[in-house]
Amino acid sequence: MAAAAFFLVVAVNLACSSVSGTVVSGKRSFSIDYKNNCFLKDGKPFQYISGSIHYSRIPQYYWKDRLLKMYMTGLNAVQVYVPWNFHETVQGVHNFTGDRDLEHFLDLANQTGLLVILRPGPYICAEWEMGGLPAWLLQKPNIILRSADTDYLQAVNNWLAVLLSKMKRWLYVNGGNIITVQVENEYGSYFSCDYNYMRHLQTLFRFFLGEDAVLFTTDGNTDREMTCGTLQGLYATVDFGTDTNITEAFNRQRRFEPRGPLVNSEFYTGWLDHWGDQHAVVDTQKVSRVLGEMLTMGANVNMYMFEGGTNFGYWNGADHDTRFRSVVTSYDYDAPLTEAGDPTEKLLAIRDVISQFREVPSGPLPPATPKFAYGFVTMKKVGNISDLLSTLSPLGPVKSKYPLTFEEMKQYYGYMLYRTTLPRDLSEPTPLISPLNGVHDRAYVSINGVFQGLLERDTALVMKVTGQQGDTVDILVENMGRVNFGSKINDYKGLLSNLILGKDILTDWKIYPLDIDGAIASGWPHSNSQKSGHSPQRNPPPGPTFYMGTLQTNGLTWDTFLKLNEWTKGQVWINGMNLGRYWPARGPQQTLYIPGPLLSATQPNNITVLELEGAPAHLRVLFMDRPQLNITAGKS
Ligand SMILES: *[C@@H]1O[C@H](CO)[C@@H](O)[C@H](O)[C@H]1NC(C)=O
Ligand SMILES: *[C@@H]1O[C@H](CO)[C@@H](O)[C@H](O)[C@H]1NC(C)=O
Ligand SMILES: *[C@@H]1O[C@H](CO)[C@@H](O)[C@H](O)[C@H]1NC(C)=O
Ligand SMILES: *[C@@H]1O[C@H](CO)[C@@H](O)[C@H](O)[C@H]1NC(C)=O
Ligand SMILES: *[C@@H]1O[C@H](CO)[C@@H](O)[C@H](O)[C@H]1NC(C)=O
Ligand SMILES: *[C@@H]1O[C@H](CO)[C@@H](O)[C@H](O)[C@H]1NC(C)=O
Repeated sequence: MAAAAFFLVVAVNLACSSVSGTVVSGKRSFSIDYKNNCFLKDGKPFQYISGSIHYSRIPQYYWKDRLLKMYMTGLNAVQVYVPWNFHETVQGVHNFTGDRDLEHFLDLANQTGLLVILRPGPYICAEWEMGGLPAWLLQKPNIILRSADTDYLQAVNNWLAVLLSKMKRWLYVNGGNIITVQVENEYGSYFSCDYNYMRHLQTLFRFFLGEDAVLFTTDGNTDREMTCGTLQGLYATVDFGTDTNITEAFNRQRRFEPRGPLVNSEFYTGWLDHWGDQHAVVDTQKVSRVLGEMLTMGANVNMYMFEGGTNFGYWNGADHDTRFRSVVTSYDYDAPLTEAGDPTEKLLAIRDVISQFREVPSGPLPPATPKFAYGFVTMKKVGNISDLLSTLSPLGPVKSKYPLTFEEMKQYYGYMLYRTTLPRDLSEPTPLISPLNGVHDRAYVSINGVFQGLLERDTALVMKVTGQQGDTVDILVENMGRVNFGSKINDYKGLLSNLILGKDILTDWKIYPLDIDGAIASGWPHSNSQKSGHSPQRNPPPGPTFYMGTLQTNGLTWDTFLKLNEWTKGQVWINGMNLGRYWPARGPQQTLYIPGPLLSATQPNNITVLELEGAPAHLRVLFMDRPQLNITAGKS
């Protein structure tokens, strides 16, 4: 409300809202009106107020609830990324069912009264594993992603033929709700600046979507980005947050699009977190003020994010600027709807701003979904990875003189075990070194069953070990999510180069692919897999170990948040669903979101934890009724 006075003094170009368009009777149309600087929908001036929502980060059960909340806030559109690797995990095999049912999502948006701004990539960034690109692309060792590289383009052609053919009937002009389609994503911030690639994409999009589809690009706030990211024939838009000078940002768009609608394709309502960061927040008053200013100018605005959701499983991305930094499991983003889909003060403030420009749907906003604090569950030890190899790696190891990467092993996500033996007696603690920084991303090292410590990409390249010649060396390597932004997206995982022990190169490996998710999906661990008796000692920590437990909810299936207080780092599953990574020892995220529909009201709910370093003696986990995303342990 405080922002209202400000709107009156902004001198703006309101041309768009005052034109009288020519309505072509009966025919649906969506286009750009270069004369009057706006979009035209069915021949009438149209301005969108949109919000980003990622169906891949929200269980299908909740899609309608979230879309309705967005509609009730006054939005008329949603902006949606399509993560290629979510739909084509195995090359040539496409999945569009269940939580991957994109057309069902579009249908729900359409039923709710929301138009769609589609962002099919093929690269999306999105703080998503490898920016949405499938890791199997890396099987060609020197592939130049996001360029006119032949193998890359071939894979893109195959994927877009499948995806865009499905999308065609959803275009507004064809009776659907997709008004605009983005080509690539912030391409100007990538090093390759390959116009042949962008022209190729333009040809593909036109071929599959037709000449009428409104295609656009989005780029950041510098001339270099705009120069490399834009292409004649694709409408150039910009993205920026609350700390950017709006006039300057839209002036930059104007240098590339002298006429046409002003568009901020990503107006940042919040921001992401990495492990070890302080929790990011963006001030509500700033969001309201800047949103009001942009709407006053007649600009089209998409709020990124409106609901962020969750990086379930292994889907989080990572950044690599000065060092590798992995994105946390929660993608709450400090957005107007929380990770669990609850309206916030920020949402109410945004609705107030919107209501000064157009009528917001009347009637109550759907309430927050109920949450429940189910309390403590005490976990029991199942065993360590080495104990469980026959279950987790049924095909057994691949033998190789030198270590192979995850990509060479064709296991793209999760964890893999590298085993060899000590070449000589080490009576003194001897350095184990990754001289080329080749541990991607974290290696947990045990010798003859005794956990020795860990190596970590960019930060811990040396540790000390002791043992006897012939002792078994087990190194569990964790892929913490592939880099999603910048020039380092060819982010191979596993042991990328040799490890050196003292003066010896470690060789003659047995490399075990681990299908932990497959084992859990088929009912492992069974209740008789529990180890009875002694609780694990924390000192020294036991290293990678599985625990299981069950939660009885006595008839409820409300949402809840799982806190692993005093646990160190690992991964959690409930009833076979991979909830993601936890790392309270680093923070800032302390709790994992559990959507209620994953729970059984009547049967015991099966919790499986892979703790990579050391569990607390109490072995308890806690189900709480609220999230805790903002406590950083202080360790860098
Ligand atoms: C496709 O994705 C859905 C939703 O995640 C999943 O339940 C299903 O098992 C997948 N299908 C295949 C064949 O992998
Ligand atoms: C979208 O919704 C409109 C109005 O409810 C309906 O007429 C149209 O058939 C829907 N489009 C699709 C593709 O389902
Ligand atoms: C934004 O930039 C314009 C043009 O450079 C300048 O005139 C104006 O003072 C700036 N506004 C703010 C709030 O800094
Ligand atoms: C795994 O646990 C077994 C006992 O169940 C123990 O003998 C072995 O040393 C452990 N191995 C590792 C690598 O921790
Ligand atoms: C948990 O696992 C047991 C078998 O150990 C199974 O009978 C039960 O159905 C599972 N619970 C759920 C909710 O899937
Ligand atoms: C953390 O977030 C909660 C609300 O989720 C808030 O009450 C608390 O003040 C925040 N703590 C810090 C240290 O920012």
